[in-house]
Amino acid sequence: MGAVLAPSILAADFARLGAEIKDVEGGGAALVHIDVMDGHFVPNLSIGSMVTASVRRVTQLPLDCHLMIENPDRYLEAFIRAGADMLSVHVEAARHLHRTVQVVRGLGAKAGVALNPATPLSALKEILPIADFVVLMSVDPGFGGQTFIPSALHKISELRQWINRQGIDVRIEVDGGVTMENLDAVVTAGADVIVVGSAVFSSGDPRGTTQRMVRRLAELAEHGAGR
Ligand code: DX5
Ligand code: ZN
Repeated sequence: MGAVLAPSILAADFARLGAEIKDVEGGGAALVHIDVMDGHFVPNLSIGSMVTASVRRVTQLPLDCHLMIENPDRYLEAFIRAGADMLSVHVEAARHLHRTVQVVRGLGAKAGVALNPATPLSALKEILPIADFVVLMSVDPGFGGQTFIPSALHKISELRQWINRQGIDVRIEVDGGVTMENLDAVVTAGADVIVVGSAVFSSGDPRGTTQRMVRRLAELAEHGAGR
């Protein structure tokens, strides 16, 4: 199984959110990435569990909620009740990360831990064995349309080696600044889930762009790239 695409709706046209989601679903997206921002952990305000519940009603795809918020413990249940299948919290914001991961899993969702670009992989050492996935930020969180931070590639491949050495089943999600131009490098470094926002939703053809990226991911998988 090769890497999969998770379009981030942060870059979508919110006046046509349902149609935009149908477009990327039709293009072969595997997940819908929902960026939740509180204006405190990141300098931007986006959407919450109510919009997640609306998204739940328009797609069967798994919902991957990325909580860029202070004190995420307060909202875990609300997002999972709204339909989140995957919930990632930032190690920089979770005071009791071990308990947070247990609560997310106990509520029936996949538990992800997210790392900002400047946070070292060592922050994952204790939590990796019980996490379902890791979100490696390849931009400083808060906005779509930013430029991919090249040092993220080394971080992805180092984490891939860690996971393979330990023989644990943890997926690597890469989030921020991914485009058709750097997609191969991100997958070859070892990413399993590729979040793409503006490259898809600001392309003028979300469905076609999704299709092209999904097709490229399949080609890379055929040639054994990554993992
Ligand atoms: C940034 C978000 C990302 C972002 C991705 O804080 O976590 O998911 O929306 O959008 P692009 O692909 O445009 O960087
Ligand atoms: Zn995100």
